[in-house]
Amino acid sequence: MTRLLEIENLEVSYGAIRALHGISLEVDEGEVVTLIGANGAGKSTTLRAISGMVSFSGSIRFAGRPLGGLRPDELVALGLVHAPEGRGIFANLTVAENLALGAFQRRDAEIATDRARVLELFPILGERIGQSAGTLSGGEQQMLAIGRALMARPKLLLLDEPSLGLAPQVTQTIFRILREINAAGTTILLVEQNAHMALGVARRAYVLETGEIATSGDARTLAQSDDVKKHYLGIG
Ligand SMILES: Nc1ncnc2c1ncn2[C@@H]1O[C@H](COP(=O)(O)OP(=O)(O)O)[C@@H](O)[C@H]1O
Ligand SMILES: [Mg+2]
Repeated sequence: MTRLLEIENLEVSYGAIRALHGISLEVDEGEVVTLIGANGAGKSTTLRAISGMVSFSGSIRFAGRPLGGLRPDELVALGLVHAPEGRGIFANLTVAENLALGAFQRRDAEIATDRARVLELFPILGERIGQSAGTLSGGEQQMLAIGRALMARPKLLLLDEPSLGLAPQVTQTIFRILREINAAGTTILLVEQNAHMALGVARRAYVLETGEIATSGDARTLAQSDDVKKHYLGIG
């Protein structure tokens, strides 16, 4: 297994507020790893640090290379692509234009192939291709956010709360497609408050609690743990 992402002792503060107190985690090539935890635990902050949106101390290595000081567009060129919390799509642009933006740095000949693949994964985006993104439902917008991220050909896809605000049926569809994306070779670091869904799709998981890793391990094992059940799955 090749280690794709290695985080050691990551600390992030917003002014006087320390959001992450020295967390360590790793993601191997081919894995789906999930970072679960309550609102405010520091999940989005972790993804923001990886994708260069906030400054940090500690170490983040991607494919062996230390990150820090790299701009988000340079990270995208390395294969690190972030579908952020709140989706970050351009409401006034069409679905087609949003997808094209995902590939804005690419000069290779495979862009059209990847676009066809995204529309195969998310047929509804094909039906809506000329509509402005703002007219899409929440689930369709989430699909567009993932589709746009895929247009950058990520080696590692950072996904922040893809289920947020979506009906269970739509969430199920999105998670099924995440499995397909992973099976086709993309490594995924998935941030979720929906621990039940996240533990179902991931191989390994880290539980974040107020800026610290409370526990981590095999996702199926964690899903069976009384503590995780009680605090994150609303069971017991
Ligand atoms: N831009 C910000 N300015 C100040 N504090 C922030 C900011 N973003 C997040 N925080 C704080 O950092 C902590 C972690 O937030 P966040 O990473 O968004 O958590 P999560 O994604 O797990 O809900 C919280 O206490 C939150 O209030
Ligand atoms: Mg968040």
